[in-house]
Amino acid sequence: MANSFRVPYVDLPSQYRRYGTELLETLQTIASSGQFILREEVSRFESEAARYLGVRYAVGVNSGTDALWLSLRAMGIAEGDEVITVSHTFVATIAAIVHVGAKPVLVDIAEDGNIDPEKIEGAITPRTKAIVVVHMNGKVCDMETIEPIALRHGLLILEDAAQAFGARYKERFAGSFGVCGAFSFHPMKVLGCMGDGGLVTTDDEAVYRQLLLLRNHGQLSKSELVLFGYNSRLDNLQAAVLIKKLPYLEEELLERERVARYYQNGLGGIPHVRLPAFHENGRRDVFSSYVIRAENRDGLFDYLMENGVEVAIHWKIPNHRQAQLGLDGFGLETTERYSAEILSLPIHPYLDESQTRYVVDKVIEFYA
Ligand SMILES: Cc1ncc(COP(=O)(O)O)c(C=O)c1O
Repeated sequence: MANSFRVPYVDLPSQYRRYGTELLETLQTIASSGQFILREEVSRFESEAARYLGVRYAVGVNSGTDALWLSLRAMGIAEGDEVITVSHTFVATIAAIVHVGAKPVLVDIAEDGNIDPEKIEGAITPRTKAIVVVHMNGKVCDMETIEPIALRHGLLILEDAAQAFGARYKERFAGSFGVCGAFSFHPMKVLGCMGDGGLVTTDDEAVYRQLLLLRNHGQLSKSELVLFGYNSRLDNLQAAVLIKKLPYLEEELLERERVARYYQNGLGGIPHVRLPAFHENGRRDVFSSYVIRAENRDGLFDYLMENGVEVAIHWKIPNHRQAQLGLDGFGLETTERYSAEILSLPIHPYLDESQTRYVVDKVIEFYA
């Protein structure tokens, strides 16, 4: 079904028009040669992604969700362990901790929407083994403060970089700080494939070898099994799509940045909205989303949707308030305030200036 919004939240058909011919040729070549599972494209994409991100190893897996929990497995996190993370994230971050049998300990976010480094030490117990930092909306967490805390307490770091492929902090890429970095190639991400896909990055050779085993049934070779693993391989066709798209990424990130800059300038003077930070504190943000904090958020949401601007709320009910998940008991004031105020405006490389101007005009009109 065609999107009927004047300003759609994402525009995957336009993206397909940009790369379509090239992609189809590649898919045709692979389909006619029957190279579908763990073939050349997977290892090629892994080495190209590792080079781009400045890490030694990258392992393609079948989603960002698997990238997270297989990382925790490979890092040795297990039953009885506690892992610190945030409630203000996609549920997969927390599910990954639960799936390895560990206990998620949720801490609050700071005003930038990322984990508040000042809240970490108060949540550490003798059982704490790791911190999962989430680089929310393409903004790298304050790793300069978090790394020394982890070091001081002997904690491992996993980065949920699902929303942050290409994001940097003082010249280092998201995914190059922790023992592992977990990425998603869901079609809505800044680097997306044509279905599900994910990647784990690491500099640790033992962790890398463990991940290779875990994603492919514990097979060391065709005849030797060394553990009970899973089927979580990055599909070869998806790897081929990603190889084609990676060279366009920087250009697309700049196009997203152009939209973000337009919003910054256009909405900067409205006292009723707070804008996201823009490349602050040595960060190079990737604007996977553009999240404002708005007075009368629900009113603004309805107004924009009724006027042809497709917006979203990630997330209206924070994970620790999902009654069925058993995550209550954490005092997360900023997270709760955030969920009542946040609104994601459309941002993608295919928005033209008349569309971004329209969004700005409609926000101004709502508050006038
Ligand atoms: C922060 C975060 N973590 C994890 C994931 C899970 O990735 P996937 O959808 O590829 O499983 C996502 C994707 O939506 C995400 O935004």
